[in-house]
Amino acid sequence: LLKIAVIGGGSSYTPEIIEGFIKRANELPVKEIWLVDIKEGEEKLNIVGKLAQRMIEKAKLDTKVFLTLNRREALKDADFVITQFRVGGLEARLRDEEFPLKYGVIGQETTGPGGFAKALRTIPVILDICKDIEELAPRAWLINFTNPAGIITETISKYTKVKTIGLCNVPITMEMTISKLLEVDKKDIFVEFIGLNHLVWGKRVLLRGEDITERIIKTMLDGSQLNMKNIPDLKWDREFVKNLGMIPCPYHRYYYMSDLLLKEQQSSLSQKGKGSRAQQVMEIEKKLFEIYKDENLDEKPKELEKRGGAYYSDAAVSLISAIYNDKKEIHVVNVKNNGTISFLPDDAIIETNCVVGNNGAVPLIFGDVPKEIVGLINQVKIYESLAIEAGVTGDKDKAVMALVNHPLVLSVEKARKLVDELLNINKQYLPQF
Ligand code: NAD
Ligand code: G6P
Ligand code: MN
Ligand code: MN
Repeated sequence: LLKIAVIGGGSSYTPEIIEGFIKRANELPVKEIWLVDIKEGEEKLNIVGKLAQRMIEKAKLDTKVFLTLNRREALKDADFVITQFRVGGLEARLRDEEFPLKYGVIGQETTGPGGFAKALRTIPVILDICKDIEELAPRAWLINFTNPAGIITETISKYTKVKTIGLCNVPITMEMTISKLLEVDKKDIFVEFIGLNHLVWGKRVLLRGEDITERIIKTMLDGSQLNMKNIPDLKWDREFVKNLGMIPCPYHRYYYMSDLLLKEQQSSLSQKGKGSRAQQVMEIEKKLFEIYKDENLDEKPKELEKRGGAYYSDAAVSLISAIYNDKKEIHVVNVKNNGTISFLPDDAIIETNCVVGNNGAVPLIFGDVPKEIVGLINQVKIYESLAIEAGVTGDKDKAVMALVNHPLVLSVEKARKLVDELLNINKQYLPQF
């Protein structure tokens, strides 16, 4: 019988994960789910935690849901740990999305200087959590959702003994979009994914074995666009995507359309009522927690769909089931490269299709990465690895070096200013600096 610990249990996404466990109760005998949060999140934890308990009760499961601020108690002998926490909360996210704009760089919570600041805040916390896991639950799998997921998963993998797999809902959302466009079941298609977290391309799409990449790109450009709720819906350059011959992920807009996006962000900040994504999410969250308080509510409410986390629970719980039941099933996850992308180090974390069983995730190999995307993958991965070194050591020069290596920054002068500002506005969350 399984014990699951969810760190950041007060998240508004928690009903999503609970729904996932309910749906798969026949394959996952979960005895206990421990929702863990910190003092600042206590109120949210209580509200969403009680909803979680009502959902479980309605499903008539034997699972018990515990709410706690005691992380060690929650982690003790856990089989799976899910991390979905946000250091500094949405206030910190708002700052991440705003400060880069002053320097003419996009503001985003996982990409660019904003994502860098989030990584620096998160690294000390995740290392601390992993120390507890090493001591109290050395056999547990850590499914990391905490962003920037690639960087955080690589930190865990390089600096701790904890077994980890990083997870993002972008690949599964792309698969769902494609199968809906084709009006086929998701299991009839196979998408070869290659790249990094929030920088992943659908390299090839197969429909029952037939390569339909070109066709699907055309359909995609003609009709509904591949996007997610949290990203401005800017239209792709049709010629470019056709010539690329691969499907970009929604986050590629921040690179391939950085100028347009910067303008869009600057104008939505000045537009009353629109605001940055953090501000929108603050509004959505307020409403969600009002809804969650209703003691008659015992299921995941529709309003949660306004968040970017579509299919989050499907991705997470089916992954846990694949490990627990040794399914040797294919999932798209963040995993050690181990030669899959020939030009990256073995210990770099990449996002790709993997065979998942009780040994963890083993990447599939699809051959050479097209040269059109090699530069960007390389550049972003070098930035990520420097960001990890900066986050672990608290070395300011390393932090500047990381941003100089970020393709959206490059300028030394800009990098210094960005680092000065982000260290300043995040001081209370950066004990390592
Ligand atoms: P949120 O702001 O609601 O935070 C979730 C909870 O984390 C809060 O209740 C907060 O109190 C708690 N928390 C903060 N610091 C903590 C700590 N040190 N220990 C334990 N709990 C702590 O955030 P959210 O919108 O639910 O997102 C949570 C995280 O999941 C973020 O990092 C977000 O980027 C990430 N996320 C990732 C994906 C993905 O695709 N990988 C999808 C959705 C969300
Ligand atoms: C997508 C991404 C996540 C990100 C989320 C943001 O799901 O894959 O990594 O956390 O969007 O959504 P939000 O509703 O918080 O803007
Ligand atoms: Mn056990
Ligand atoms: Mn993601």
